[in-house]
Amino acid sequence: MSASIFDEIHRAPLLSDQVDKRELTSVIRECQYAISSGIAGDVVEFGCYVGTTSIYLAKLVQSPRELYLYDSFDGL
Ligand SMILES: C[S@@+](CC[C@H](N)C(=O)[O-])C[C@H]1O[C@@H](n2cnc3c(N)ncnc32)[C@H](O)[C@@H]1O
Repeated sequence: MSASIFDEIHRAPLLSDQVDKRELTSVIRECQYAISSGIAGDVVEFGCYVGTTSIYLAKLVQSPRELYLYDSFDGL
């Protein structure tokens, strides 16, 4: 399943220019590593903007683990 997430990042256009594919791949790889290492807990993205990273985190984070997304929507 995870390989398909990376394939999708490679193939699909991103929702915004707030993150590039190299950065996004790195975030998802690290999150995948944390999950597969058995680290307990939920996943939180602070500053999700329009969800460019969030949609891939949502593919990775599975129940009962929760994904929380926050943004001030005030910009940087
Ligand atoms: C570079 S964008 C985030 C890009 C996003 N992570 C992505 O993958 O597309 C930074 C976001 O952080 C939010 N932000 C900045 N300071 C914040 C704060 N103190 N609390 C919550 N959100 C904040 C901004 O509104 C903005 O949407």
